Amino acid sequence: MGDHDPQGMLDLVLRLPVFCRQAWTLGREVVVAARPSAIVVIGMGGSGIGGDLLRALFLDDVPVPVAVVKDYRLPAFVDRAALVFACSYSGNTEETLAAYDDASQRGATCVAVTSGGALRDRAAQRGQQTVLLPPGIPPRAALPYVFLPMVSALSHGGVVPPMDDAAHEAAEVVAAVLNAERPDAPSSRARALAGAFHGRIPVIYSATPFLEPAAQRWKDQLNENAKTFAVWNTFPELNHNETVGWGLDAALATHLAVVVLHDPHESDRLRRRVDITKDLAFGSAGSVDEVTAAGSGKLARLLSIIAIGDLVSVDLARRREVDPTPVPVIEELKKRLSESRR
Ligand code: F6R
Repeated sequence: MGDHDPQGMLDLVLRLPVFCRQAWTLGREVVVAARPSAIVVIGMGGSGIGGDLLRALFLDDVPVPVAVVKDYRLPAFVDRAALVFACSYSGNTEETLAAYDDASQRGATCVAVTSGGALRDRAAQRGQQTVLLPPGIPPRAALPYVFLPMVSALSHGGVVPPMDDAAHEAAEVVAAVLNAERPDAPSSRARALAGAFHGRIPVIYSATPFLEPAAQRWKDQLNENAKTFAVWNTFPELNHNETVGWGLDAALATHLAVVVLHDPHESDRLRRRVDITKDLAFGSAGSVDEVTAAGSGKLARLLSIIAIGDLVSVDLARRREVDPTPVPVIEELKKRLSESRR
């Protein structure tokens, strides 16, 4: 990556399979009740997307509600029978800490997922379980660590069927996808997509609600790594509003670069919707591309398509000649907020 990636974001993306394997083992020691009233994941940004992934992954398998909280406040249904994961890589994110304190006060079973900070301290003081993550990684590059320990804990605790094979497959498939798609690979689609996005606004659509968190992750990574604006939405909901928005001036539409994220298991009806929508709405778009997740298990499918988006974001940073690692706007905002509390 040369000069524009001095802190090695591409290398971190390429280490996703290693992170996946290690993250899986970290969740094994967590003790959870087999039937909580609800599973709640608190987390913001790079530490919150793991909750979105968890919800998508378990929609068909978990008989209790799975909720993701990206707020200072918890929903009223969180009670002492709830299982709450408080995820903050740094351990110092104020929204996460506030909601975590609330969960503790309500007597819920709380598990802190963090590399340190106030979250680690508070969990220790309260005698609550902690999944301690390796330090020194930008939170968004630590995605497997803020996602897979929760899956592993639920699987080893009997809340969902055993998933060791699925986790193994996910790491293997992600490794293969990264190998094929890394920007220096001969026919990397990730490199081609970064070319399509360069100078345009990426529009990331998931063809199925199952891949919603993947579409969001693509957008987030384009924001933070490539320092560019991007939007995401999902089928079938976008057919009921945003499709009409494609009636915008054709000259404006040429600045939009669409990518549709497909799941090999998506229904024929959803695939038909995408085809009709392409025909009806995307005629003036600057580019239209489609990417399909790899692997057979849900975990592999979610993580493989995320891996491609991560590569696209880093390659777009290279094309834009920006350093993918620092996020000074986020740091400054947190600094000013903490100053205003003193
Ligand atoms: C930084 C990043 C951010 C942070 C977010 C919350 O790489 O992706 O979105 O994840 O500001 O901070 P943490 O993860 O420390 O709770």
